[in-house]
Amino acid sequence: MTVRAFTFLAACVASAISPVLAHSSAGSQEFRPSHDAAAERGPQIFNAVHNAMRQWGSSLHHNGMSYFLAEVPEGVLFHHGNSKIESPTDPDWLAYEIEHAEGFARPRMGRPPGGPPGGGKPPRPPTPEGAPQLDLVEDGNPQRVIGDHPQTHIAEETHGYLHVYRTSQPLRYLYVDGMGGGKTSMGTLDSQDYLLRGVGSVRENMPGSRTAPGGPMDEQQRAIDLCELCKDWQLEGVIRMEAGFEIIQCNFSVGLEQIQVLQRPESGLDRRGELGNLEFVRGLAERYQGIGSTRTIIDYSSMVSAFFFPANLTNPNPKRPDLPRLSNLADSELSAIKEYLTNTIEERREKPRRIIDWQDVSDLIVGRYADRLEFMAEHIQSISIMSSEISFLLDVFIDYSEKDEGTRISAAVDRCTNFYLRSIRPETEADQLIHTAFKSVTEEICSTLFVVRDVVAAKATVSSSSLTLAVKMLRSLITKLGWARFKRCPACAVNEVCLIPMWPFGTVEDYEAPRCTNGTQDRDGENYWGGFRGRPGGPDGKGPWPAAMQ
Ligand SMILES: *[C@@H]1O[C@H](CO)[C@@H](O)[C@H](O)[C@H]1NC(C)=O
Ligand SMILES: *[C@@H]1O[C@H](CO)[C@@H](O)[C@H](O)[C@H]1NC(C)=O
Ligand SMILES: *[C@@H]1O[C@H](CO)[C@@H](O)[C@H](O)[C@H]1NC(C)=O
Repeated sequence: MTVRAFTFLAACVASAISPVLAHSSAGSQEFRPSHDAAAERGPQIFNAVHNAMRQWGSSLHHNGMSYFLAEVPEGVLFHHGNSKIESPTDPDWLAYEIEHAEGFARPRMGRPPGGPPGGGKPPRPPTPEGAPQLDLVEDGNPQRVIGDHPQTHIAEETHGYLHVYRTSQPLRYLYVDGMGGGKTSMGTLDSQDYLLRGVGSVRENMPGSRTAPGGPMDEQQRAIDLCELCKDWQLEGVIRMEAGFEIIQCNFSVGLEQIQVLQRPESGLDRRGELGNLEFVRGLAERYQGIGSTRTIIDYSSMVSAFFFPANLTNPNPKRPDLPRLSNLADSELSAIKEYLTNTIEERREKPRRIIDWQDVSDLIVGRYADRLEFMAEHIQSISIMSSEISFLLDVFIDYSEKDEGTRISAAVDRCTNFYLRSIRPETEADQLIHTAFKSVTEEICSTLFVVRDVVAAKATVSSSSLTLAVKMLRSLITKLGWARFKRCPACAVNEVCLIPMWPFGTVEDYEAPRCTNGTQDRDGENYWGGFRGRPGGPDGKGPWPAAMQ
């Protein structure tokens, strides 16, 4: 390794450890976004942009720390399952996918307390014999279901109904990223509960401890609270994701035209039969890489992220340092971020929905480097092949007319770093911060690759240890980037789907190593989401499939 290589490496290490918190003077009046924070959280911000409205990356990086304004254009179909022929009159759920809403198109009996996605209340897990259980509600009164509508006619509720709506005008929402529909104590609800709702009572709720009232399953109140905010912000609701994307629609009379409502058969879910699991996950897997570019348009220039702020996002759970949390933040910090979000929403209200597609930029970067980094780090056993792969990637940035080696390389690193950012002219503060974050990511990639190039190209000194060193640097780069693509399954057969935990199902093992499955090769395992109240997973809180599907 040459001296230059060491200098590059030292620079990378130094930039990686500069602590964000050192820049925030304690007690300072203004708690604002900072470019130091954005640079240090570069990979996380990059991933938040890259994974927005994508089921795969948002399942892997499930603790969302960011918000975006989003618009659903006219003419988009949504689905809602419940026990009534009438449309909901209270805030309720719309599902992007048919499969998601179908699970809720059933009579009221057999519904759980609290948490619905894609429809009214989600189906109660069947007992082992397959009969629906009675509802158990938070206050222990089995007669009262949270969110019950007073004028409900019990007699009519013997069937489920599947409603289909079409947007009759463009509708604007707040998109809460990550797995915001996941009712867990792992941090999936932090950005809603701590920050938007200011609910502090669940903060102490660490894994294993009992949930305080108003905890993760308090979905009806969560919807009401979020809709209060949306009213002030002139938004129609909140977009979130669990096993499927959904919208908390605050008022079904605004901008929705019902195009179909069909009564479901008595047997409900049973008709899914043997292929139910496979087909349910197939529907979700279809959205791993995106919800469809015209179904929901994200205004990246409106991004507000806790990652932008000099905040302590360290997970108090030492077993999951990879997952950010908002549980350490002081109330004053949480409300400062919320105020900043409110101001951003105001500022962006009349603006065109998308001036800059930062996700496109992230796609170009991931598309160019992801597989090549993995190939170099995991599959190359020869120095000369490593060297030619690196040259293939980097030659485009080198000006061979420049004779001074040092100048030539530093100019090349600079070109490489800025290459994909050249397409963008930042306009808003969010754009500037995303730019800083993306640049820290490309700088990391480019400077590491040029060091690796040096390590494997220095003919006089190359040896097998050079290859070892190169691989080590590439692996550490891959870890630091944390791109969801590095975890994807190989292409699955048409009778299989790739499975990653999506609340409420999936196992710890599925998270570590997502796999292709046909839905019958269940591997027993610990439910990834901690089997909150024993509900997610099977009746015993275990198993990879949604309880209702088993
Ligand atoms: C929902 O929207 C309709 C139509 O604009 C309006 O008449 C109604 O009052 C709204 N409902 C609520 C609860 O705000
Ligand atoms: C950040 O939070 C973690 C977890 O609660 C804590 O251990 C750590 O001391 C905090 N760091 C700072 C600088 O306050
Ligand atoms: C799924 O795979 C298992 C094991 O490979 C096989 O026994 C089973 O028949 C398959 N199920 C379906 C529905 O294809």
